[in-house]
Amino acid sequence: MDLYEYQAKELFLKHDVPTTPGEVCTTPEAAEAIATSIGKPVVVKAQVKVGGRGKAGGVKLADDSAEAKARATDILGMDIKGHTVHRVLVAQASDIAEEYYVSFMLDRANRCFLAMASVEGGVEIEEVAANRPEALAMIRVDALDGVDQAKAREIVAAAKFPAAVADQVVNVLVKLWAVLVKEDATLVEVNPLVQTPDGVILALDGKVTIDDNASFRLADYDSMVDRESTDPIELRAKEFDLNYVKLSGEVGIIGNGAGLVMSTLDVVAYAGEEFGGMKPANFLDIGGGASATVMANGLDIVLNDPEVEAVFVNVFGGITACDAVANGIVQALAMLEEQGTPATKPIVCRIDGNNALEGRRILTEAEHDLIELVDTMDDAARRVAELAAARKAGK
Ligand SMILES: Nc1ncnc2c1ncn2[C@@H]1O[C@H](COP(=O)(O)OP(=O)(O)O)[C@@H](O)[C@H]1O
Ligand SMILES: [Mg+2]
Repeated sequence: MDLYEYQAKELFLKHDVPTTPGEVCTTPEAAEAIATSIGKPVVVKAQVKVGGRGKAGGVKLADDSAEAKARATDILGMDIKGHTVHRVLVAQASDIAEEYYVSFMLDRANRCFLAMASVEGGVEIEEVAANRPEALAMIRVDALDGVDQAKAREIVAAAKFPAAVADQVVNVLVKLWAVLVKEDATLVEVNPLVQTPDGVILALDGKVTIDDNASFRLADYDSMVDRESTDPIELRAKEFDLNYVKLSGEVGIIGNGAGLVMSTLDVVAYAGEEFGGMKPANFLDIGGGASATVMANGLDIVLNDPEVEAVFVNVFGGITACDAVANGIVQALAMLEEQGTPATKPIVCRIDGNNALEGRRILTEAEHDLIELVDTMDDAARRVAELAAARKAGK
């Protein structure tokens, strides 16, 4: 989960990373009030989970509270790279002498963390990396050793920070590493880390990505989840503990195993070309040991997506045999009916693997109006695309 800047800065404060105090709000009047209480020039900053807000006009200075209100009026509701601004952060403005860049991120390919630092911060770091790679220091960080004073000094030396601020930057790096470890983050980035004219180091921007796999041990995780910008179907799927990602097509997909579901998306998108461009409506992996309840929850989620016209259940029986999955599908449809939300969309099933014949027999004998059994994955993909296109055309 990516955090907003204001949330990242709350974590910075919690771990003693020097930053500018501020408050987030949703109206120009509230921005004015925050600016009044700060009582100094402020900066009004769009809170969207995308970089380059400054360039897009989403970061503005204001000398007094009336101006803060006017800038908040300009920025609230703005569209920045497809993200609508619902909130602004009003923070004390800082005088800036130098802008630096520092970050830690998980480097999966190399099974370590990567520290990056540059004295040419402020601008997009991708630009520095592309045009002046020598200006961006990259240092491996062993996950077990972490970043202590000595490691931080190595990073500071590699990036050639001025001697006058070296000690402060070392301190900031050690604290940012604590943010990464204690908050289970996979990314902690500060751009810009500034030096003020009187030589003080401050984090003026912050980007933090939390590892969702650690959500269970983070006390503040739930309060950081951003419900208004998360798809409502994804939120419900999360409550059911399902691995669901909303996509934009018409064919609902349920499969077991991430690899099988990924290839199902491909096969459906390919088959859909023949039927006016039908596409997968979602990714949903119900996992290895899918019970009837999990299947019911999955069907519930997918069938309730208003964009879904037909569903493809693609299961390869392994540890959970096909007969159990078939019973799961039949029971799931019965459960939905009992719940008063009966299924109304065609469901194409392809089941193969362990005990496939028995599974198919169960589905055939269930004689459910909506279920259609197809033997191969390619044929099933064509059929479901055809059904989805027909149902869409019939509307
Ligand atoms: N508190 C602040 N005081 C003064 N200038 C600021 C402050 N926060 C940001 N800025 C300026 O705005 C620029 C862009 O802001 P930043 O928070 O980095 O947003 P983004 O990276 O999305 O463009 C910064 O590089 C800095 O020059
Ligand atoms: Mg920035």
